[in-house]
Amino acid sequence: MISIEASVLSADFAALGEQAQQAERAGVDAIQIDVMDGQFVPNITFGPGIVRALRSQVELPLDVHLMIADPGSQIEAFAQAGADRLIVHQEATPHLHRLLQSIGELGVEVGVSINPGTPLDVLEEVLHMVDLVQIMTVNPGWGGQAFLHGQLDKIQRLKLMLSERGLDVPIGVDGGIDITTAPLVVEAGARMLVSGSSIYNDEAPVLDNVKALRASVCGR
Ligand code: DX5
Repeated sequence: MISIEASVLSADFAALGEQAQQAERAGVDAIQIDVMDGQFVPNITFGPGIVRALRSQVELPLDVHLMIADPGSQIEAFAQAGADRLIVHQEATPHLHRLLQSIGELGVEVGVSINPGTPLDVLEEVLHMVDLVQIMTVNPGWGGQAFLHGQLDKIQRLKLMLSERGLDVPIGVDGGIDITTAPLVVEAGARMLVSGSSIYNDEAPVLDNVKALRASVCGR
């Protein structure tokens, strides 16, 4: 089962609720909310208020991707706002083990993500603590960037790392996912695909874009 998440970073912010509902009607499996603080990444996006607002608009799980410098200080606010999963970056904390534990204690799913330049082995000691490992396939900060093909090998190595440990943790990918790159990442071992500009764009309606993305990985 391949799950597809719509990243609302590429959506029309003036109609965020309606845009999330369009993705829900189109059959995505979750909404990903990219939280950026202008420090961990240069861009600034959403706070807990947006998560709470979207919580009232869709039934889908809300996957909150924290690209912020001090995630530990914010996890409770986002969990209370309605996040179903919190994804934090290994690069954002010297105390990853404690941070992942704290997220689990909030009763939400636990996700960890690494940037393209970060080696896999930084995750070795915490793989058993997470519900998802998200490999960034672009350098985080913006939607619409080109997919980094160099990350395909990292996905394959992570898949091996997880199976060697007998861990059935899904691998997620985020950045540059479209009908061409989606089959490549699934082939490499990814099971959760985040897509923004391939779902929200002027070329076609959300419904058609999601259908095309789903079809590109169907049966893989
Ligand atoms: C980038 C975000 C991604 C981004 C994906 O930092 O984490 O979720 O919105 O957008 P596309 O699919 O356009 O690369």
